[in-house]
Amino acid sequence: LSSYPSYIDLLPSIQTCNITNLPENYFLKYYLYHALTWPQLSFVAVVRPKGGYKAGTSKAGAGDLSGNYPKVVGYVLAKMEEEPTDGMQHGHITSLSVMRTHRRLGIAERLMRMSQKAMAESHRANYVSLHVRMSNVAALRLYRDTLGFEVEKVESKYYADGEDAYAMHLNLQSMW
Ligand code: ACO
Repeated sequence: LSSYPSYIDLLPSIQTCNITNLPENYFLKYYLYHALTWPQLSFVAVVRPKGGYKAGTSKAGAGDLSGNYPKVVGYVLAKMEEEPTDGMQHGHITSLSVMRTHRRLGIAERLMRMSQKAMAESHRANYVSLHVRMSNVAALRLYRDTLGFEVEKVESKYYADGEDAYAMHLNLQSMW
């Protein structure tokens, strides 16, 4: 177990997955803030290196990420809303993506369901919210049709390039 990489070891690989798949990107310290503040809520899907983990045995030592660390092929970065305007304790999906090579395998659905369960069980979240581009057909189908999210409102020019967002939410009280 001691040689198994921790979530924090994987942050650079999570950031790479994000940059590869989405235009909304974050400083490494923002991932770290999520990991330290709400460690139960974020999850990754990884491809294991052949031969298992050998942390500490590579030339650069235990901190070397080049050789035998797993590659993140999907992640969900999630948090609890710190100052909810409606006064309701709720979770928020900051970012979700899956590498093209690993799509349509159910990874995103699984990551989302794990995060939603943790929000309900660890934080008694009333609901989970997120924003999604109106043009993002794949994500909209995942959220609305597969997971049961509902559109709460349209947020005009939410994204830096001027695109509108659907603000969506899903009630979690039945999971308490
Ligand atoms: N077209 C239509 N429906 C889709 C598609 C698609 N390309 N991809 C997923 N779905 C729907 C389907 O209903 C699917 O069920 P099915 O395969 O049984 O038909 C269901 O979602 C579950 O699909 P998963 O396999 O779990 O989804 P996947 O692992 O492929 O990831 C994701 C979906 C995250 C949207 C992926 O396409 C991706 O990374 N896209 C780029 C990044 C992105 O848009 N992220 C979301 C931004 S919003 C936010 O971060 C809060």
